[in-house]
Amino acid sequence: MPNTILIGAQWGDEGKGKIIDVLTDRADLVVRMQGGNNAGHTVLVGKKKYVLHLIPSGILRPGKRCVIGNGVVLDPIHLMGEIDGLRKLGVRVKENLFVSETAHVVFPYHRLLDEHRETAKGKNKIGTTKRGIGPAYGDKAARTGIRLVDLMDSSTFSKLLQQRVHANNTLLTSLGSKRLSFKKIEAEYQAAARKLKPFVTDTVHLLHDACERGDQMLFEGAQGTFLDIDHGTYPFVTSSSTTAGGACTGTGVAPNRIDRVVGVMKAYTTRVGEGPMPTEDDLLSDHFHQMGREYGATTGRARRCGWLDAILTRHARIVNGINEFAVTNLDGLDTLSTIRVCTGYRLGRKTIDRIPNAMGQLAQCRPVYTEFPGWEQSTEKCRKWSDLPLNARRYLRAIAELSGAKLRIVSVGPARAQTIEL
Ligand code: GDP
Ligand code: IMO
Ligand code: MG
Repeated sequence: MPNTILIGAQWGDEGKGKIIDVLTDRADLVVRMQGGNNAGHTVLVGKKKYVLHLIPSGILRPGKRCVIGNGVVLDPIHLMGEIDGLRKLGVRVKENLFVSETAHVVFPYHRLLDEHRETAKGKNKIGTTKRGIGPAYGDKAARTGIRLVDLMDSSTFSKLLQQRVHANNTLLTSLGSKRLSFKKIEAEYQAAARKLKPFVTDTVHLLHDACERGDQMLFEGAQGTFLDIDHGTYPFVTSSSTTAGGACTGTGVAPNRIDRVVGVMKAYTTRVGEGPMPTEDDLLSDHFHQMGREYGATTGRARRCGWLDAILTRHARIVNGINEFAVTNLDGLDTLSTIRVCTGYRLGRKTIDRIPNAMGQLAQCRPVYTEFPGWEQSTEKCRKWSDLPLNARRYLRAIAELSGAKLRIVSVGPARAQTIEL
């Protein structure tokens, strides 16, 4: 398999975990490059369901090496909990996990600030996962962050943490929050650091050496294109580079090492959190929620659902350089008699085919739909292209064409076997 970046082409939760799991079979390393434990990637192996937040989904395949790159913001207490949880489920997490020593650390003050800032925004809130992701990336950009390499050295850590807790206590108390105890955080994080130490390394050199040996790398994007700090629906975004470029900056693997970009899209659109979503449709949301699907893997929140938006997926193709699409959750549309795809936006008197950058305008966009006849039969047992109903094939061909890249994978259920490769 060529070195592959796998990226979400919508607003996250496209089913990246499932597709990563399928592709990991052919990779040597699986690498996370951005985000933190705001991500929730679901993988079904047999009857066991795993939800990975920080650890690459490749960990479920024995013998694969998994790397958490420098672009990730890492809550060490959460990571240790995730490792313990996986071990209890019988998953080996030992010499197969490597964590970048230059990844930035998420602290309790980040989580508290995340919460307070959301509350202060009131109805203009972002709807974050409250994992402290924004404030941690904020510190990184402001050059006041603490990295794992700093955490591993107890005297450096102690000095840095003392300054940061002091500064954040001033901020937090002004917001009506209680003061945090430096001593308590120091003790907690040092205990986590001791447990984490065997995993922490210089992953830039590890990945470079792997590349030189010809090992195949699979980059596991978190979130999705429209949550990207630069290319997303700002300010209703996360704080990292969720697009393909983030795979290079977030790992130190150079762009000319990348061979292929796979975009994952749901056969419809979902979004969790606030912000404009032109194709949102309450009836469709009810339809999926009644089926018991489209609840967030990290926060359990009901996801907002809508029709596939080809304006978005086409834009995702451009900013990520998507060569191939993987379409997931096709089976979600199985019972519908008519399926809609957004192919334009009505904005005032004009019809446009690009996303406006002003959020006020995007909120006013009304979708222009092209309708497709449904197939009204189950696709869950389809295992090859020719097994799919004719109308499903027509729909898939149309959305790949509208989005501008080859269709490579179709997923018709959460299990490994429910995958069609073209
Ligand atoms: P991720 O964050 O992109 O990895 O996606 P999530 O795991 O948050 O959400 C995707 C959900 O869809 C999970 O519950 C998956 O098990 C599920 N899933 C993925 N592909 C399919 C599919 O083709 N059909 C069905 N029914 N479920 C799927
Ligand atoms: P995966 O990797 C869907 C959303 C939040 C919120 C915004 C900012 O599972 O696809 P943050 O906590 O990051 O500051 O929240 O981003 N969000 C996600 N939505 N899937 C995710 O990850 C998400 N991670 C963050 O809901 O709207
Ligand atoms: Mg998810």
